[in-house]
Amino acid sequence: MTEGSVRKAVFPVAGLGTRFLPATKAIPKELLPVLDRPVLQWVVEEAREAGIEEFIFVTARGKEAIADHFDAHPPLEETLATKGKDALLAAVRAASIPAGKAVFVRQDAPKGLGHAIACAREAVGDEPFAVLLPDMLMRARPGCLAGMMRLHERTGGGIIAVEQVPREEVFKYGVVALDESSGEAMRITGMVEKPPVEEAPSDFIISGRYILPAEIFSHLEQTAPGAGGEIQITDAMQRAIDAGEPYHAYHFTGETYDCGGKTGFLMANIAFGLADAEIREDLAAFMRGMLPE
Ligand code: UTP
Repeated sequence: MTEGSVRKAVFPVAGLGTRFLPATKAIPKELLPVLDRPVLQWVVEEAREAGIEEFIFVTARGKEAIADHFDAHPPLEETLATKGKDALLAAVRAASIPAGKAVFVRQDAPKGLGHAIACAREAVGDEPFAVLLPDMLMRARPGCLAGMMRLHERTGGGIIAVEQVPREEVFKYGVVALDESSGEAMRITGMVEKPPVEEAPSDFIISGRYILPAEIFSHLEQTAPGAGGEIQITDAMQRAIDAGEPYHAYHFTGETYDCGGKTGFLMANIAFGLADAEIREDLAAFMRGMLPE
């Protein structure tokens, strides 16, 4: 079992973003903005806050703008400095990932989340790593991954962020089975993708953040395409659990917005807008005006 601190994070950004077409025809869905920055930047900030030092993006054709976004931009920075736009300059600089700390690997075709993670194998090496699904904007203080890191220090092994949902909604998600007797750090005994409500093992769903031991790569190698002909990370994690590797659930209780779809994306913009001191009043007044008397 590989242990030690988690220094690297993988961001799978090679999906087609079909739920957001035609917006995502030329623009990666991960770069659509929530308030004043791309969804992906919020998620990178969550990773940075949790202590991540190296950022591995699994990308695809047409996603080149992602690398540009996280690069330094000397001409823009110079112009902002000359004009004395200090706040904007600081915001632009804060978006950059330090030289040498962003790694981009390609997934040749959208063969599933499990396949995307397997593409990061060489960049990750033989150490535990985090995976953050950039569609999922998860808001909490401290952030979701920071909380998972604390749990990982205690338990080691794999950590999966889970959220409790009304039982009638579980059929839309990956659902975990938990060892109820295992106390606060809930041990995961299994997982199933999109189960019928009556067969779901719990009402805890997998919500888009993982800490995975490097052993997951050998399980992925042996995982055949599953639902939708895609290589599923849940199938590989199930193999790891069946082999006796410890996986624990981190119960996330903050807000989650699925920005890969229109409803979640608009909700995120409203929530982040209402939390922003500069625009809160105008946005709230507009929303009150839109509601029927
Ligand atoms: P999604 O299924 O939500 O992304 O995968 P998608 O395929 O882009 O979405 P739609 O349904 O077509 O709109 C979750 C995450 O995994 C990545 C996606 O980019 C997304 O961030 N992913 C998915 C990959 O990197 N490669 C894949 O083969 C599949």
